[in-house]
Amino acid sequence: MTAERLSPGDPNSFSRPDEVKVTHMDLVLDVSFDAKTLSGHVVLSVEKVNVEANVLILDSRDLTVSMVQDFDTKQSLKYELASSSTTFGEKLEIHLPDSPNFKPKISVHYTTSPKSTALQWLCPEQTLGKKHPFLFSQCQAIHCRSLVPCQDTPSNKVTYEAKITAPHDLTVLMSAIRQGEPVKNDDKKIHKFHQPVLIPSYLLAIVVGDLESRQIGPRSHVWSEPALLDKAAYEFAETEAQLSAAEDVCGPYVWGVYDLLVLPPSFPFGGMENPCLTFVTPTLIAGDRSLVDVIAHEIAHSWTGNLVTNSNFEHFWLNEGFTVFVERKIVGRLHGEPFRHFAAIGGKTYLADTIESMGASNPLTSLMPDLTGIDPDDSFSTVPYEKGQAFLWYLEELVGGPGEFDPFLKSYIANFQYRSIETDDFVQYLKHYFQNTAAAEKLEKVDWQTWFHSPGMPPTFANYDDSLAVPCKALCQLWSDWNNKGCPEPISMSPEDLKTLSPSQIQEFLAQLLLGPPLSCQTIEKMQQIYGLNGVQNAEIKLRWLRLCLRAQYKESIPLAVQFATSQGRMKYCRPIFRDLYNWEDARSSALEAYDKVKDQWMYVCAYTVGKDLHVIQ
Ligand code: BES
Ligand code: ZN
Repeated sequence: MTAERLSPGDPNSFSRPDEVKVTHMDLVLDVSFDAKTLSGHVVLSVEKVNVEANVLILDSRDLTVSMVQDFDTKQSLKYELASSSTTFGEKLEIHLPDSPNFKPKISVHYTTSPKSTALQWLCPEQTLGKKHPFLFSQCQAIHCRSLVPCQDTPSNKVTYEAKITAPHDLTVLMSAIRQGEPVKNDDKKIHKFHQPVLIPSYLLAIVVGDLESRQIGPRSHVWSEPALLDKAAYEFAETEAQLSAAEDVCGPYVWGVYDLLVLPPSFPFGGMENPCLTFVTPTLIAGDRSLVDVIAHEIAHSWTGNLVTNSNFEHFWLNEGFTVFVERKIVGRLHGEPFRHFAAIGGKTYLADTIESMGASNPLTSLMPDLTGIDPDDSFSTVPYEKGQAFLWYLEELVGGPGEFDPFLKSYIANFQYRSIETDDFVQYLKHYFQNTAAAEKLEKVDWQTWFHSPGMPPTFANYDDSLAVPCKALCQLWSDWNNKGCPEPISMSPEDLKTLSPSQIQEFLAQLLLGPPLSCQTIEKMQQIYGLNGVQNAEIKLRWLRLCLRAQYKESIPLAVQFATSQGRMKYCRPIFRDLYNWEDARSSALEAYDKVKDQWMYVCAYTVGKDLHVIQ
């Protein structure tokens, strides 16, 4: 059966904001840790785009809807909730009131399911403090529909308000501005929020737990469980410097507050750009601020993604490719251009590794994949990030470098902010901006078709300055030569080698080794003896080291790899480790056993994708 596009604007959403659109959501919800549900209602302010339209189509997944009303008249409204579930959840069709009102308000009374794919409910034992339960959400790409019935497509934007009732001893935060102090209500407290800036549904977010905060900048606090707060405040102290650099690149920061929230280890991503409150994994806390590029990335989303938004996930590169590009502009502003170039070289290495494992003819390796019938969770990879940033860097060089491209970038953001756009909107704006300049002719010659639609590595890369990558490549060469010669003694490598490299250079050295053929077990043993990498805490270094060990079929590394992949639920780490374990027959049963034990501790999206990687989920 060939899949159908669900709606003209978005293959992954039933909704039709081109007919009737939601403009504002007012959430009134009660958090029950016993039932593992959010229950209450949402009032949707809607606007008829087509005056003839008489149904509002919403997305939902695993929601129990008890009543739909016209908010003003309290008249019950007829609705149909599809009884069979699809990859994209269940369509909810609401018949709008027969009144001449073009802007009715609709209230939907509902309860989420304990297995809501947007929510993770943790029991006290799964937290650091062990005393209180914890709840967090992750809506991107299309999980918001399992938290609230909504038009779950980034082609539409809404403002929102929320009133959340939760146990009195817990803190509630959302991707919004807190409004006043929480108010006591029996043994619960009511927390109020408002988000006055238009956002796509995937940016709705909530967390409930034993959280404390510390101020780390004029507009920033970091939030975490109390036991982690000191470390978190130290790690993310550069946040304001990163924010100001981002403003220098993109224009004014419009969201008021920029807070960070450090989640429990099962948070499935490195970071998530929830407005006003970026969510991050605790694996960023390396102790030496070496992984804070992820914060620069999430900050960059405050413009690319959150202000200028992809209209559906086929244009995801507009979010992520631009954001990686801006992230590296921030790095360049703060640490110097060579660091920006070095980060781009790291991205190229990562892209090569990804395309090698996905297959160079895999249609999901093209910049604009066709997502008809495809769950965006299944298409997720570094391709839109790194191919997207490679494309923008190529265009930057083509039009004459940062001197020309930086003003364009600012102008692009100012032109499209508060809107959702497609790739063609970008292309047209780029051509329009550079018309009547020397760049116009060069832009005519761009092979747009190959860049956007061909799978595999990009047609070209810009010339990155490799001064910081030279020592990584040199050390990689020494080890692969030594390996290829059969590991002769004496050996020239020594513990000093790594002392002169930064953590990201060590990471790149290992990443380069990973691109080559597997090393021998003898080489792995020697590397461990000289560098002691088994003891390393930096998660990016650990990932690459363990992958090298597994690729060498070094048996002693199996328990270490299993321990790493099960001690946290960040997909960037769990997926490759589980895949490498699976691909090695001697380690496969350990992988399957470990997966079985850990899957219920993980968030849905991680359990689902690793389950697919291990062929235990179809
Ligand atoms: N928006 C993404 C995370 C995401 C993407 C969640 C798609 C769900 C679906 C976030 O900004 C991100 O890209 N995080 C990266 C950070 C990295 C590229 C610096 C991550 O999680 O590793
Ligand atoms: Zn991102």
